[in-house]
Amino acid sequence: QAIHLSDYAPPPWLVETVHLTFRLDPQSTRVLSRIRFRRNPAVPGDHDLWLDGEKLTLTRAAIDGQPLDLVPESTGLRVPAALLPADGFEWTAEVSIAPAENTTLMGLYMSKGMYCTQCEAEGFRKITYYPDRPDVMARFHVRIEGDLPVLLSNGNPAGSGDGWAEWEDPWPKPSYLFALVAGDLVAHSGSFTTASGRDVALNIWVRPGDETKCAYALDSLIRSMRWDEEVYGREYDLDVFNIVAVDDFNMGAMENKGLNIFNSRYVLASPETATDQDYENIERIIAHEYFHNWTGNRITCRDWFQLCLKEGLTVYRDQQFSGDMRSHAVKRIEDVLTLRTRQFREDGGPLAHNVRPESYVEINNFYTATVYEKGAEVIGMLRRLVGADAYDAALRLYFERHDGQACTIEDWIAVFEDATHRDLSQFKRWYTQAGTPRLRVSEDWDDGTLTLTFRQWVPPTPGQPLKEAMPIPVALGLLAPDGTEVQPTVVLELTDPEQSFRFEGLAERPVPSILRGFSAPVILERDQSVEERAFLLAHDTDPFNRWEAGRSLARDVLADMATNGSEPPQLFFDGLRSLLGDRTLDPAFVALALRLPSEEAIAEHLHGQGHTPDPAAIHTARRRLSLLRAQDLAADLGCRYHEMMVPGPYSPDAGPAGRRALRNAALAALSQLDGGARAAEQFYGADNMTEQLAALSALLEIGAGETELAAFHDRWKGDRLVMDKWFSLQAMLAPPDRAASVARTLAGHPAFDWKNPNRFRALIGGLAANAAGFHDPSGDCYRFVADWLLRLDPLNPQMAARMSTAFETWGRYDGGRQTLIRQELSRIEATEGLSRDLREMVMRMLG
Ligand code: ARG
Ligand code: ZN
Repeated sequence: QAIHLSDYAPPPWLVETVHLTFRLDPQSTRVLSRIRFRRNPAVPGDHDLWLDGEKLTLTRAAIDGQPLDLVPESTGLRVPAALLPADGFEWTAEVSIAPAENTTLMGLYMSKGMYCTQCEAEGFRKITYYPDRPDVMARFHVRIEGDLPVLLSNGNPAGSGDGWAEWEDPWPKPSYLFALVAGDLVAHSGSFTTASGRDVALNIWVRPGDETKCAYALDSLIRSMRWDEEVYGREYDLDVFNIVAVDDFNMGAMENKGLNIFNSRYVLASPETATDQDYENIERIIAHEYFHNWTGNRITCRDWFQLCLKEGLTVYRDQQFSGDMRSHAVKRIEDVLTLRTRQFREDGGPLAHNVRPESYVEINNFYTATVYEKGAEVIGMLRRLVGADAYDAALRLYFERHDGQACTIEDWIAVFEDATHRDLSQFKRWYTQAGTPRLRVSEDWDDGTLTLTFRQWVPPTPGQPLKEAMPIPVALGLLAPDGTEVQPTVVLELTDPEQSFRFEGLAERPVPSILRGFSAPVILERDQSVEERAFLLAHDTDPFNRWEAGRSLARDVLADMATNGSEPPQLFFDGLRSLLGDRTLDPAFVALALRLPSEEAIAEHLHGQGHTPDPAAIHTARRRLSLLRAQDLAADLGCRYHEMMVPGPYSPDAGPAGRRALRNAALAALSQLDGGARAAEQFYGADNMTEQLAALSALLEIGAGETELAAFHDRWKGDRLVMDKWFSLQAMLAPPDRAASVARTLAGHPAFDWKNPNRFRALIGGLAANAAGFHDPSGDCYRFVADWLLRLDPLNPQMAARMSTAFETWGRYDGGRQTLIRQELSRIEATEGLSRDLREMVMRMLG
């Protein structure tokens, strides 16, 4: 039952206007629809009308007022062409649905007495019969009747009274952008005046009591609106912009036109309850959803294969925004860390797929790191290749040419070709070829000339045994032995499997700094001495590569320790010491440079080098390196710990957040030496969650913190978002041999509300992130996770499918672990009544 890109056919019937009336009731909400259809001039001939619909109770339907007697199929309704007036008609229908029974959190559902919707990708069909596909764009008018104080939908308000409200959205949109919210809500409000003078009312709607935690979200929204005007020339286009925070939400947030719906964790923040990381995420996701208003809503996707058209571009835009608000260097490093942990992992396993997939069974399974994060990298490469000015010109053309349309990646590429007169046919491979390219570079020095030879290859991925050469932009600079830059950054464009570049007239042999700014999402393989990397760590003028030098050194040191028990070189500690002592560096950068590669990253690296990673050995090696480093750098760390104290009231800005990051990195290291004395002191003295949680985590990492865990629980048991942290931290940091029992205890805790996606993710996702624990050779955790996936699947298949990716790396490990994981996957696959979502994932993982 797979759907293929190559089978795309345009819709024979288009929608002009939609009138919806909702009579809200938890058990039986009635949805009345009146839809004006017209013939699609691009599709000649007579065609049936197909309306998607799932789990709807149809009470009546008519065409131009003539009642119809239709028998719905399980996925929708077909009205034969013979019943359809040739030049258009009005469809009316009434269905009833039960939002209180909807546990899938798709379509119209209830969360704590509040009605809300999630329609992307195919949730609208659970609300009423409709051509639920993004290439059908229409103007919506919505009337909501219900006994609740706040009734919201898309667009501008069009009247309201006692128990009812109407909304009119002037902008044609696909059904996946429809939204409705009704509940006892309060707003934290503000306003924004657009560049051309439109006054926009801004509201963040939350449950009573939470309105004190909305200021940062509102501030982020205002900054996003201004930024999109200044950088992309995009203005907001309605009189109101509403954001609603919901506790039960499968994803991060959703860009419904004029009515964004958010997982409450990405809206609510106070210094006492949210960490610096939470604040940064709120800023980023508020921006992301706001930016979708143009890249996603005004210009949408023709079909779901084109998902990266809106997601890759919008992620790229939110990355630019966060960089502008904070630090580009730090942001780039964070983004690459995410890309490597999530996307490279996906690309290297059984779930690898193109940035633009070519087939799917369940589209919800393709909201992936590849579509989002690699999709954003592809935009970044395009910008690097054509240059910033040409990129700006291409985007202007994109908005001008395609406003109001549902587009494809071909449209996107054509815009760049037309704006820059470049042939981008090879570049398109980034959308059509899966897998992370490997790039091997070798150096040759001869009499003032440095020759760099690059060899690339892309490993096979499911369904793609053979790969073609990728176009790879390699940003590169050369440093003289004294640290001065003899060749500022240039971008080499690789197009062939093997290519050489010569740099002539050099006085001395330089040290190349390759793939600056991580200019392409590839794995760079390079034989480089410890000395050379220490040199780059000390001198590279490109901040990303400076960090990367230390990172790759730490990775190799750890890989060696884990595989052959070797000892770390002194040069590694010396490099870190000079970094730690450099007061000219941004503390946030130093904190990142101190972060050791995760156990997961080492496993991935070892697998890529042809080894079979041993999770226990990796865990031991990482702990040992961390301890040796703390011993070697104790004095410097202690010094920085005191120096980085942030006085005065809490501010989530990048400056103080960076200081806290460095201070907490020092704390985690020092706790290994002082038995947790400093951490306990910080825990009890903290007036903000960033410091408190970091202290708790430092304690748990050294096997202490029992008392503090209990104190934390008592203090925060009334706060759901903080309790999520309590669950995930324990699952993540449990000692490997105790991970399963800790997880079982947590699952039995009265606060483990497993039907809440955040809580489920906190425990199950936390455990999966505990690499050595999850992969404990007993297989206990595998069984535990599989049991929970099977329990969740009948209620919330989307969430179960997403969490099943805990198993996607099974192919890396030894035969014993492989067998245990495959057993669990097979057990899931054999379960009767499995959802389409989870079934597709498990089958792909089993290969
Ligand atoms: N478009 C949303 C965002 O990126 C995500 C929606 C995901 N929905 C889903 N059913 N997978 O901001
Ligand atoms: Zn998005």
